[in-house]
Amino acid sequence: MSNRTDLSSWKSLEKLAEQMKQTHMNDLFAADPQRFNKFSLKLPDLLFDYSKNLIDDTVINTLLQLTDDVDLPAWRDKMFNAERINMTEDRAVLHTALRNRSKTPLYFNNENVTNEVESQLTKMQEFVEQVRQGKWLGYSGKRITDIVNIGVGGSNLGPQMVTEALKHYSDQSVNVHYVSNVDGAQITEVLAPLNPEKVLFIVSSKTFTTKETMTNANTATNWLLKSAPDKSAIAKHFVAVSANIKNATEFGIDPDNIFSMWDWVGGRFSLWSAIGLPIALDLGFDKFIELLEGAHAMDLHFQQAPSAENAPIIMALLSVWNCTFLGAKSQAILPYDQTLHMLSAYLQQAEMESNGKSVSWQGEQISYPTVPSIWGELGINGQHAFYQYLHQSNNVVPADFIGSVKSVTPVPGHHSTLMSNFFAQTQALMTGVNEQQVRADLKAKGRTQEVIDKLAPHKVHQGNRPTNTLLLKQISPKTLGMLIALYEHKIFVQGIILEICSFDQWGVELGKGLAESIQQELESDKVSASHDSSTRNLIEFYKAASQL
Ligand code: F6P
Repeated sequence: MSNRTDLSSWKSLEKLAEQMKQTHMNDLFAADPQRFNKFSLKLPDLLFDYSKNLIDDTVINTLLQLTDDVDLPAWRDKMFNAERINMTEDRAVLHTALRNRSKTPLYFNNENVTNEVESQLTKMQEFVEQVRQGKWLGYSGKRITDIVNIGVGGSNLGPQMVTEALKHYSDQSVNVHYVSNVDGAQITEVLAPLNPEKVLFIVSSKTFTTKETMTNANTATNWLLKSAPDKSAIAKHFVAVSANIKNATEFGIDPDNIFSMWDWVGGRFSLWSAIGLPIALDLGFDKFIELLEGAHAMDLHFQQAPSAENAPIIMALLSVWNCTFLGAKSQAILPYDQTLHMLSAYLQQAEMESNGKSVSWQGEQISYPTVPSIWGELGINGQHAFYQYLHQSNNVVPADFIGSVKSVTPVPGHHSTLMSNFFAQTQALMTGVNEQQVRADLKAKGRTQEVIDKLAPHKVHQGNRPTNTLLLKQISPKTLGMLIALYEHKIFVQGIILEICSFDQWGVELGKGLAESIQQELESDKVSASHDSSTRNLIEFYKAASQL
């Protein structure tokens, strides 16, 4: 049995949750004029308001006590100091070393990781400058105009999310495209308008075994070789990012064109490594470094700020409070900045692949609810789609609202319309409107008693729905780096509190293995009798239908 539930802070939180379920945030705000000051943090370029959560001083203090009871500071040191905290894979977890702009030496396996990182960054810089300045030439001597990144999961979502978020910082020296899906529709659409003489492919795969990526990379090679005179063109049009140098070389990529990754970087935490190459090619190397600097600033905050003023720790505690103790099952990510339109997709992998688990460090079944499912969409689009559910369904969905004080692309009249919605929604979700208010409003509008009686129950909003507000100064490489690192550390803290190994992903293996054998069945005459009848009949139907 996990000992988390035996901790006195845990037991107190269970009791506090029962009391808090009977409390309305409206009353908490009314009782404490200092509530916003108490429950918000001002970091450089970022305001984090968490006062619209079902918390009070006792709850926060008990949650903070929990961080001590689980030895969070010691675990944090273990991560930064290269201890093997990825226990099931026996690996260190060092994505923070990739952006250690203080450049302090850090030893792992007797190697100075900082030197290794710096040497890869130098290699990246030289390559990025050659390509962006038109010095890297394709097989026919033409400069590269288009980059196609082939990768999936962590080898796609981070770079693509950042490219989208920072596209207004790009000087468009090159155009960057992404191919992640093995559905041929995507690569066909991406390659259709491109000239093979001017395209550079980045095959991004930590393992260099991921079937979808390898299939897309083979298709890209064949596409190139249809127009190139011979295979020597591959060296001019393909680079790879991988921890598996052997496979990348066997694939045919020139060893000089392989950028290394290390075992100690998890795929979903890898955008800071050479996996971020498409970002650097798009924005220029200096801006890539600014992204790393933003993340490093958050790393220092996470390491140095006392727990009560530590944004990732507070965010993690609130998630644990809302889900494990108050029973929320999902969490919405609602950016009000168009540039962040891929953030929720990115955070789905970051949080759900990290902590979507139900076995503890000791290999025992966990008895308490762990992390929520993460979903979301641009807030404004969501308002006209699923916010009805957020306001009035009987499932409470805690939500992160993320906005910017300044737009990167200001258009007169737009930003205040956008931000008025941003502020209105968290207020409405918190305050709600009770039946008395609804009735008074309908009466003031001259509705008959019959109409009032009929409509009143439908118009009641219970409120009391928890939200965090993250208000950035403006989206920039630096603030985006901070924001991503904030969530990364939140995920780490959640894992420690819940006793989950956040850095493995065994749950993706079963389906992968089955797909391998089913593909053989799809491409041969046989269908295995070992499938359940549903799967077998589906496969047989598909095979028969595809021959019609
Ligand atoms: O299948 C899940 C996963 O292993 C992710 O963890 C990873 O980000 C993704 O696949 C891609 O893996 P790779 O970079 O090795 O191709």
